[in-house]
Amino acid sequence: MSWQSSYKHKIVTAEEAVGHIQSGNRVVVGHACASPEALLSAMVENKDQYRDVEIVHMVSMGASAYCLPENNPHFIHNSIFAGPTSRQAINQGRAIFTPCHFSQIPKLFTDRILPVDVTLCMVSPPDEHGMCSFGISVDYTKPAAESSRLVIAEVTPHMPRTLGDSFIHVDQIDWIVETDARPTILNPPTITPTDEAVGGHCAELIRDGDCLQLGIGAMPDSILGFLGDKKDLGVHTEMFSDGVVDLVEAGVITCSRKNLHPGKMVATFFMGTEKLYSFVHNNPRVAMYSVDYTNDPRVIAQNDNLVSINSALQVDFSGQVVSDTIGFNQYSGTGGQLDFVRGATWSRGGRSILAFHSTAARGSISRIVPCIDRGASVTTPRADVHYIVTEYGVADLRGKSVSQRAKALIDIAHPNFREDLRREFENLYLKDNPFLRPMPEGRRSGYWPHEHDGDYLKQLAV
Ligand code: COA
Repeated sequence: MSWQSSYKHKIVTAEEAVGHIQSGNRVVVGHACASPEALLSAMVENKDQYRDVEIVHMVSMGASAYCLPENNPHFIHNSIFAGPTSRQAINQGRAIFTPCHFSQIPKLFTDRILPVDVTLCMVSPPDEHGMCSFGISVDYTKPAAESSRLVIAEVTPHMPRTLGDSFIHVDQIDWIVETDARPTILNPPTITPTDEAVGGHCAELIRDGDCLQLGIGAMPDSILGFLGDKKDLGVHTEMFSDGVVDLVEAGVITCSRKNLHPGKMVATFFMGTEKLYSFVHNNPRVAMYSVDYTNDPRVIAQNDNLVSINSALQVDFSGQVVSDTIGFNQYSGTGGQLDFVRGATWSRGGRSILAFHSTAARGSISRIVPCIDRGASVTTPRADVHYIVTEYGVADLRGKSVSQRAKALIDIAHPNFREDLRREFENLYLKDNPFLRPMPEGRRSGYWPHEHDGDYLKQLAV
């Protein structure tokens, strides 16, 4: 049978398609803005037919009605990255959370650690070869579909046809639901003066010819706004948004100095507006791969001068970075932060940047703290961290002792909190320490405890 006839035979309604899901199945859902919303609403409407269907995915950008309390006996959401519509369910104990680096998620499915019964995804219409593109979400969606017992695809002409290793053949799809749905839109964040200050400091760390990774949140967009005078930037990232399109059109991003995939922007998913989605459609300068490739630190490190830019919620004096929990509450997920921090560390000339506002909760909390909150989880360990950036400047933590890190971090904390932080520092590291003595003559950076000398105390007081 030709793929064209097989395609026609597989077309069903959304209600018919979700009728193939069975109680107790594990269902993997297409990621982020490529979430197949028509299939998901049909599944939730059909809920009385199921019990304990496990819904696995990362960033939830859609309605996530399966997370609502009234749908609880029918579904259990297993989240790998909390989003606005799943966060409450996780923190109220109605959903579960599985920590995993983004690069490792495909392995959960392909190695049958979490065997997949059904994949629900959104793809572009088939091309003349019968190939549908996973479009703006290749990441774990493609490996899940490839290792799944059943693949149900929402096919819409609005899904961009992205290129690279981003395709599935019609023969690999079991049921097709044709819709006119558009991928979810993520509007660019409003950039505040504080974002701009952080962005300006980050831009100072970026040089012509660097290859960029851009994380989630307002920070990456505000940094892009400061890169207009750079030359020949490259992109090897897990995701990007609209801001990158402007820099390509301005001739700033050319990828001409990349040594891995020269000339191409490499990514695994996109979140943005129609502007971004039209830009990536059929664009040979954009190459999409599964996340086990894009986020493998060994692959990332093959790009020289790789600069990773991500954000965080809290950092302690020793440099431990918390980016996905607020105390015991799950805020987001590990994502690809450590994948890229490590890839950047191993890249020749590479640098990793973790950038955030110095305060949270409308200025009432310092994000730079002596110790991380009880219940919080470390996303980037202190031995991996490199640059920390706030609106007050840059702390380069690499090669610094714990007490030197504390000092560098206090220097970029919000002025309202510096005095308290200094007092905490003295209590933790200096008070009643019988070993304190002056730093040996000519010694610029000593090992603990030698560095806790009088001069150092004086420096802290400045
Ligand atoms: N204590 C209490 N609340 C805090 C806090 C802290 N230490 N730090 C932040 N918050 C609050 C903020 O006030 C804000 O609340 P609001 O929405 O009510 O104003 C909220 O938490 C979110 O903080 P913000 O810094 O604005 O988040 P963001 O949207 O810019 O995202 C991360 C930042 C760190 C959550 C996000 O980058 C992330 O999830 N990173 C982990 C994964 C990763 O980096 N992956 C790589 C790219 S996918």
